[in-house]
Amino acid sequence: MQTLNVELGERSYPIYIGVNGLRQPDLLRQHLTTSKVIVITNEVVDVLYGAQVMDLLNGLDADKLVLPDGEEYKSLASFERIMTHLLELNAARDTTLIALGGGVIGDLTGFAAACYQRGIPFIQIPTTLLSQVDSSVGGKTAVNHPLGKNMIGAFYQPKAVIIDTMTLCSLPRREFSAGMAEVIKYGIIYDAELFNWLEQHQQALLDKDQTTLQEVVRRCCEIKALIVAKDEQEKGLRALLNLGHTFGHAIEAEQGYGNWLHGEAVATGIVLASTVAQHKNWLDASELCRIVELLKAFNLPVAAPQGMGYERFMQHMRHDKKVQANRIRFVIPEGIGSAVVTDDVDEALLKEILDAS
Ligand code: NAD
Ligand code: GLY
Repeated sequence: MQTLNVELGERSYPIYIGVNGLRQPDLLRQHLTTSKVIVITNEVVDVLYGAQVMDLLNGLDADKLVLPDGEEYKSLASFERIMTHLLELNAARDTTLIALGGGVIGDLTGFAAACYQRGIPFIQIPTTLLSQVDSSVGGKTAVNHPLGKNMIGAFYQPKAVIIDTMTLCSLPRREFSAGMAEVIKYGIIYDAELFNWLEQHQQALLDKDQTTLQEVVRRCCEIKALIVAKDEQEKGLRALLNLGHTFGHAIEAEQGYGNWLHGEAVATGIVLASTVAQHKNWLDASELCRIVELLKAFNLPVAAPQGMGYERFMQHMRHDKKVQANRIRFVIPEGIGSAVVTDDVDEALLKEILDAS
């Protein structure tokens, strides 16, 4: 078991990465300082890992709430359902929530924990690759609104993150690939060595080799922990983690949430941002090619939905959270291993790229 720390002063917390984390009661129980524990999960994850996690809580005052599965349930209605459940159980402030599932359950549970009685502790047990390398770390919590994704939320850090990479064995291949988009993102924005390593370890990753998975999850969590420690509330550096997301969110909104997976939309967004970079001569043609090939190796889409075009992209991107003074801000790579946030992207260039995509 490897341990990393997210250094945030008195809100610091450990990330445990290994196999069999879900079989070690002490790992979880050392972080339970409250009298009541409630596991929040969904129908799919509950069948796979619900009993195992409830076993870890044997002898404690533990309860479980199982929600339906899907991005559409990362909603105010599900948030209300959690609140009602907590109130019906007479849950006081000495209650800990455990998020058992992917990014949907993690974001929703974290937001519920942030709000219930103005804040109760929560622990993340992420079970998708995307949630293990990205969403469970860093304290971004949210629900979606019909008018915008992740528009209602809070920065609220968990008390611990427990990552058992064995859970990835049951993850459908398409979901695994979606997580790889966020992994590749770290290589492009921060770590050229990681990018090279990914090129060399494609097969081991696709085979879900546990040693390779632990290595990649650890490196991604290390990068995320470093970035979050420097810029918890996204005033600067943290925005780099949004590479591909401005274009990606537009694709998700256009297609209807859940039709393109978040990671799939991000993959295409990374290609679009990298194409902008190539036009600016920040990225050479061979680097763009390497990015596209690596994404394709994990069966990720590298072109926008057919016929979407500039106008539809713009309609969605104007509502992006990163818009400042009416200027859309993009994360653009400067070579592999570094990126910047800029609003200096020529409209004509954008039109050319988006209409051709
Ligand atoms: P998800 O939570 O919907 O999980 C994907 C699917 O896999 C679901 O059907 C789920 O039930 C199933 N699943 C989960 N674990 C499984 C397992 N071990 N075996 C089999 N099936 C399993 O999706 P996700 O990709 O994990 O997360 C996407 C969400 O994360 C989006 O809402 C996105 O906005 C959010 N997100 C948040 C952050 C953040 O910083 N908070 C970062 C990136 C993405
Ligand atoms: N996933 C982006 C962030 O955590 O900032």
